[in-house]
Amino acid sequence: MSTINYSEKIPNNVNLGEDRTLQRALEGWQPNFINWWDDVGPEGSTNHEVYLRTAVSVDPNGWAQFGHVKMRDYRWGIFLNPGDTNREIHFGDHKGEKAWQDVPGEHRANLRRIIVTQGDTEPASVEQQRHLGLTAPSMYDLRNLFQINVEEGRHLWAMVYLLHKHFGRDGREEAEALLQRTSGDVDNPRILGAFNEKTPDWLAFFMFTYFTDRDGKFQLAALAESAFDPLARTTKFMLTEEAHHMFVGESGISRVLSRTAQVMNDLKTDDPARVRAAGAIDLPTIQRYLNFHYSVTIDLFGADQSSNAATFYSSGLKGRYEEGKRGDDHILKGQTYKVLEVVNGQLQEKEVPMLNALNEVLRDDFIKDSMAGVGRWNKVLEKAGIPTRLAVPHKAFNRQIGALAGIKMSPDGRVVSEAEWTARKAEWLPTPEDFAFVASLMGRVVEPGKFAGWIAPPVMGINRQPVDFEYVRFG
Ligand SMILES: [Fe+2]
Ligand SMILES: [Fe+2]
Repeated sequence: MSTINYSEKIPNNVNLGEDRTLQRALEGWQPNFINWWDDVGPEGSTNHEVYLRTAVSVDPNGWAQFGHVKMRDYRWGIFLNPGDTNREIHFGDHKGEKAWQDVPGEHRANLRRIIVTQGDTEPASVEQQRHLGLTAPSMYDLRNLFQINVEEGRHLWAMVYLLHKHFGRDGREEAEALLQRTSGDVDNPRILGAFNEKTPDWLAFFMFTYFTDRDGKFQLAALAESAFDPLARTTKFMLTEEAHHMFVGESGISRVLSRTAQVMNDLKTDDPARVRAAGAIDLPTIQRYLNFHYSVTIDLFGADQSSNAATFYSSGLKGRYEEGKRGDDHILKGQTYKVLEVVNGQLQEKEVPMLNALNEVLRDDFIKDSMAGVGRWNKVLEKAGIPTRLAVPHKAFNRQIGALAGIKMSPDGRVVSEAEWTARKAEWLPTPEDFAFVASLMGRVVEPGKFAGWIAPPVMGINRQPVDFEYVRFG
């Protein structure tokens, strides 16, 4: 018994209409997905009609169609970027061989693990963000939140498609488990640490979409190089959507800074208490949120030395960021990379085999990309004549994973004692008072064109609509 009209309900370019096995697997999974969305998706949103973009094909006209839809009826699609039948593996031990259209038996367990780990982050972020709609600073922002939520839902579909299509029974079991783990659940949490943290307010949401969705960009970019062609093509298409998520974070923080700078200039003060009393978020609080989200996000790249990372690369499962643009041999045997280690309580650089350091290579690429955006945030302050600058903390600050978890480090890169860490932690990471203050600002502002007092309006609307467009119709 089929309840799905495959071309209409599930836009796809994977021949779903002709693939009975895949249809049956998705028929079993789809009702559980909808239950999951109803249970832990955006709270109180069932009857809203949201101005969303929906991907209906991968060509330039089809991937971003806009219109008001109920999120529950969003057409979660399955898309692979167009393939190249002659594509060759371009890194690792299989370099020069034909890319794989099916999963080779010897790489099955590792590929499944990679896909499940990526897939797990997608519903996790929806769960983390589920209450934010109740405190949106504007209708424009509410729409952006919901857009990200449905696209993370679609990214889950993308990974479930690979599991259903290529991993048989274990794939179906893993697809079910993706709906069973829950962010922050003590008994059955999400796989990765940052995806079990809370996203309690909109400042946290903007930091999350800036930093943690950017982790997504780098992981997807590394998987887009994969020798397993369906994974490469799926993640390439996901990357087109990810750009908007990072835009929401970057522009969100820019708008917060712009409002804060305006209040500081109006009051001619840099006193955090006076900025807060005027209803804006003080710069030290913004810096502490940044420190937190940056440090938990760089942990997502894993241990600085990892034999799994070497195996994933050499066997062709996961490449480097922009693998094709690099000028080396793409095999990396005998090459080295500098990582940090702790010796007698101090940090030291050491050279290690590059293959084992590929997590660190990807983390360093992420760090460069993150810092560029922080520079753009500082331009907002500079233009407003505010001398304070934001900065990303030292790589070893507040780390829980890898060699650097063994020390306490100040944001500016000084190894500190336990005692100093305890005494100064409240200067460096958000405190319960910070969360309470930011929470106190989180009222619901959803009249078209109106904005909460702690954030400036955006420069322009979505899809060339005006800023005061009715982005959400409340049902
Ligand atoms: Fe995603
Ligand atoms: Fe994302």
